[in-house]
Amino acid sequence: MSFEFRSLMFGIVILLVIFLIIADISEVEEEIGKHGGTRKFYPQNLLHKSKRPASSLQPPLSNQLSPEKIDTSKPAIGGVGTAVNPTPKTEWSFNRTLSNSIRKNILKFLDAERDISILKGTLKPGDVIHYIFDRQSTVNVSESLYRLLPAVSPMKDRHFQRCAIVGNSGILLNSSCGRQIDGHDFVIRCNLAPVEEFAGDVGRRTSLVTMNPSVVQRAFQDLSSAAWRERFLQRLRALQGGVLWIPAFMAKGGEERVAWAVRLILQHALRVRTAFPSLRLLHAVRGYWLTNKVLIKRPTTGLLMYTMATRFCEEIHLYGFWPFPRDARGNPIKYHYYDTLTYEYTSRSSPHTMPLEFSTLRDLHSRGALRLHTGACHT
Ligand SMILES: *[C@@H]1O[C@H](CO)[C@@H](O)[C@H](O)[C@H]1NC(C)=O
Ligand SMILES: *[C@@H]1O[C@H](CO)[C@@H](O)[C@H](O)[C@H]1NC(C)=O
Ligand SMILES: *[C@@H]1O[C@H](CO)[C@@H](O)[C@H](O)[C@H]1NC(C)=O
Repeated sequence: MSFEFRSLMFGIVILLVIFLIIADISEVEEEIGKHGGTRKFYPQNLLHKSKRPASSLQPPLSNQLSPEKIDTSKPAIGGVGTAVNPTPKTEWSFNRTLSNSIRKNILKFLDAERDISILKGTLKPGDVIHYIFDRQSTVNVSESLYRLLPAVSPMKDRHFQRCAIVGNSGILLNSSCGRQIDGHDFVIRCNLAPVEEFAGDVGRRTSLVTMNPSVVQRAFQDLSSAAWRERFLQRLRALQGGVLWIPAFMAKGGEERVAWAVRLILQHALRVRTAFPSLRLLHAVRGYWLTNKVLIKRPTTGLLMYTMATRFCEEIHLYGFWPFPRDARGNPIKYHYYDTLTYEYTSRSSPHTMPLEFSTLRDLHSRGALRLHTGACHT
């Protein structure tokens, strides 16, 4: 084979790979930008592309992950079986084999130990990053943000027997689950949800908490006064060295909020371990679920956390996941346990597909891969 011919072949292969990557990214963006209308799904993972007929891309809802049917004629309310049963004894038991095989499969798409944060060595101040969902907008890596990038993964070599992931649903109110949640070896919370005032129901411990930039505005009034800044600092001090996970490069618009938060953390030399998710994490998580025929749009923080937690947790317990306006008895349930926001769970314009995520998690619960707690805890 001549040198020219080999070079030509090599060039063609490179072009093909670039084309596939671009096609992949633009499809995701198009769908996310569209917010509803006709549904469009991400192509299967590149590796599987050629093996799957196009018709398998849109299986019926009842065909996710397992052959067990989910009754979609009724809303999922009340369908959680033993999980909503008020009796403390349930038949749930952990299936380690299944859990291990899920971890192994997820590791084919992402390694949470690595993807949980961009590391110092991979960026430098002044680098320009394209937002994952708004590719045409960019953000510069500031000197301050750079200083908060970890040098090694905050989850390096960390493994836990039992982890709790606490969602923010109002289903937690009056649950008395606080003590049980705090009893886990590692507790993950979402969006800096307040804990002190609700400790009996949600617990206090926080080993890792996420913070979308929008939270700085919604829950801390854009840190506009000394009082709000103090509140924010207090919430971060309560982490006592836990991980603060900031998805700074997902969607444009949060640049200043991230900058303010970063400045405060540095100014006050707060003891938190900041982490900024890798640029590939979201696509990788989504790729895993889509390949398993769970046709989510954009994963919620809760599903992201579950997917990542499989890397360093044996038994995963979920609390506060309930994407329905009513509980099993028909009582109204708040969207968040701590504020008055409302949410259209089934809206097509939402970037998330919460009821679908929930039925997937419920299915994994029934198979013993994780445990979904949706009722009161008995202490
Ligand atoms: C655990 O899951 C594996 C894999 O899905 C399955 O083969 C096995 O029967 C399950 N074990 C129990 C005790 O349910
Ligand atoms: C980002 O950096 C580039 C070049 O270093 C500079 O031209 C641009 O003004 C910066 N943008 C912002 C928003 O700081
Ligand atoms: C929680 O319990 C208190 C006192 O029993 C009651 O007033 C309140 O309405 C309950 N809240 C919810 C959300 O069920």
